[in-house]
Amino acid sequence: MPDRSENLKVTVLGQEYEVPETDCWLRVFQAVGFNNPEFFFHSGYYCWNNRCKTCIFTYVDGETGETITAQSCLTKVKNGDQVIAVPNNMGS
Ligand code: FES
Repeated sequence: MPDRSENLKVTVLGQEYEVPETDCWLRVFQAVGFNNPEFFFHSGYYCWNNRCKTCIFTYVDGETGETITAQSCLTKVKNGDQVIAVPNNMGS
């Protein structure tokens, strides 16, 4: 059984972070926003359950190297993932 307390190493717009293994990307964006005023998170814009589509982002998959555009509320974080575009209503 994998160690669930292990953090994953990812990058968001070129900045490195360690995040919990079970987080979806939208929750990671929220956590990053609380710690980085340049990456402000507007939580009121998100449904968190596959309806609003405002959470779409683009990342390079840490396992396959493939560039993927997906809904961050539905996408599990994997070690080595690199976010290259956050949802349109995030960021400075
Ligand atoms: S937060 Fe609404 S679809 Fe992802």
